[in-house]
Amino acid sequence: MGRPLVFAHRGASYDLPEHTLAAYLRALDEGADGLECDVRLTRDGHLVCVHDRRLDRTSNGRGRVSGRTLAELEALDFGSWHPSCALPDGDEVLDESHTRLLTLERLLDAVLAAGRPVRLLVETKHPARHGRDVERRLVTLLRRYGLTEPRPGHPVQVTVMSFSLLAVRRIRELTPALPTVLLLEALPGRLRLGRLPFGTRIAGPGIVLVRARPDLVPALRAAGNQVYVWTVNDPADLDLVAAAGVDGVITDRPAQALARLSEGSPS
Ligand code: G3P
Ligand code: CA
Repeated sequence: MGRPLVFAHRGASYDLPEHTLAAYLRALDEGADGLECDVRLTRDGHLVCVHDRRLDRTSNGRGRVSGRTLAELEALDFGSWHPSCALPDGDEVLDESHTRLLTLERLLDAVLAAGRPVRLLVETKHPARHGRDVERRLVTLLRRYGLTEPRPGHPVQVTVMSFSLLAVRRIRELTPALPTVLLLEALPGRLRLGRLPFGTRIAGPGIVLVRARPDLVPALRAAGNQVYVWTVNDPADLDLVAAAGVDGVITDRPAQALARLSEGSPS
């Protein structure tokens, strides 16, 4: 069995500001199999890659992402909070790829321009002011890019993830061929161990849950599901999930994860 797929969580977000184009291009350079991003809707209906509901932690703005227009967000700095921007390294000149808001469209364009296979995990964040519009807009955008149906030979494969059962169900209803991941912070009370709802075939448990419940990954796999675990940065955790036979790891440090996971698997 080969190593698990390595997905860069918010890009190479340990080294560079999360959700910036620079962080994603770094992850691709490092050889990540795929990228993970969170999406939210702006006040005027654009999908942007931002994790928090508020702007305060990762930009020089204040307040809710959903309360601002795209133009207002484009005027903010999304990189200078990160140590890599405060201490430019040698001759490296920081361009706007380190500081500019990333729209999902720009990320899709970058992934399509990569010239090699890339898997993109798009997480819709809830609760959200725009509710179900997040999934509707996402499916409309992916359809425009021809990415709602797996196409043999196409280098880019999109999978949609959410902690929200309703969001996962909406995606399944809107576009049944698009793979989905149900993210899990805790065990879902109403489901039998290892079972997933709505035709979803990939579980996304957090590493804390995987550590606490060693029976979870085997049960998911026995039920025929794949397992992507987040956010796995610690080498001991990488060893743990690799030994458990998971299909993917989502990490802030793709180069480190690739090196560690490749040590134990035939190339
Ligand atoms: O990949 C899943 C993981 O990103 C979920 O947690 O808070 O980092 O979005 P969070
Ligand atoms: Ca996420």
